[in-house]
Amino acid sequence: MRTSAYDIVVLPGDGTGPEVIAQGRRVLDALAETGTPKWTITEHPGGAQYYQRTGREWEPEAEAAAHAADAILLGAVGWPGVSLPNGDIAGAALVLGLRSRLDLYANVRPCRLYPGVTHRISGEYRTVWSPAKVDMVILRENTEDLYAPFHGRLARAGETELTIDSRVITRKGSERILRRAFETAQRRDRGAPEDGARRVTCVDKSNVMEGCRFFRETYDRVASDFPTIGRDYAYVDAFTQWLVRNPEHYDVVVATNMMGDIITDLASVLQGGMGFAAGGNIGDDHAMFEPVHGSAPKYAGKNQVNPFATFFAVEMMLRWLADRNSDRLLTSQADRLERAIAGVLERGSARTYDQGGTATTSDAGDRVIEALRGERR
Ligand code: IPM
Ligand code: MN
Repeated sequence: MRTSAYDIVVLPGDGTGPEVIAQGRRVLDALAETGTPKWTITEHPGGAQYYQRTGREWEPEAEAAAHAADAILLGAVGWPGVSLPNGDIAGAALVLGLRSRLDLYANVRPCRLYPGVTHRISGEYRTVWSPAKVDMVILRENTEDLYAPFHGRLARAGETELTIDSRVITRKGSERILRRAFETAQRRDRGAPEDGARRVTCVDKSNVMEGCRFFRETYDRVASDFPTIGRDYAYVDAFTQWLVRNPEHYDVVVATNMMGDIITDLASVLQGGMGFAAGGNIGDDHAMFEPVHGSAPKYAGKNQVNPFATFFAVEMMLRWLADRNSDRLLTSQADRLERAIAGVLERGSARTYDQGGTATTSDAGDRVIEALRGERR
């Protein structure tokens, strides 16, 4: 167990990123009131709006700090109309750049519906699924596939005639995300809601694509090292309907990068929407945690967006640090935070606009902090 303080680097980024991150920091401060363990937090600007002002996505010190940090907490990056000369989103250095440079190969996105949370479908707030039916973790490969930097454009006489995005699926990239998926299934305290069984669902398009065939072959090879975990296969197109129709079937789901990007946004609807979806970008030596929702420019500066995804990202970060450092005190802090969040959600005392309520971003922070302090008393 570590005795020195954990060094947490915070990158608030663009739009609503700084607003949700401010609440995440308040919650961390409230947790720290109970004493050990301690962390220090350093915040660095960066992103598309910073690029617009300065011509740089962030400063070299910020990048160096992120590389040296024990953990990184990211808000969101991206701003309409601001892109890099090569067409990539400005601020990509903070998200895609760190995923690649720190080799954060596993994008871990828990999808769990908490009691008290509704979902918005077709403009109405409903409870379609009971919380007992939605409890899965989706792992998305985070460094290769269509995100690998092999893109090209053929322009003759100024006219684009051909573009190419190459899909890169490697043995190393597949093996390590698949292994992590099986390890995740082994460690979870409950299996799929449907039957309590532990299973890893391999989502791919191996009926068409070579990379997916290789991913599935690798899945089978890795699966043989985990005889107690059930094997399960889904073509991605069929998966989208099964996911919505029978979310209770899923325990751990694993996919390549691009398909994982798409299915995790879809899955977020099952947990109440993007306002609740948190992700961890996890490697062997580094990790970065973030709300998945993005910078939401329309809501920026309004103190209106849902900060729960950030609270869950903070909880994931504390758990990752705790596991890595065998720090039981930090685990109990993460447990406290989860109980506080779950209590507020169940009481419905901080419903933001996306839940049909009127609570502001900072109201939600207030409620979670009160819950933390109330528990302490
Ligand atoms: C995500 C986002 C990013 C991605 C964007 C911002 C580049 O959509 O984290 O899911 O495509 O991975
Ligand atoms: Mn995405």
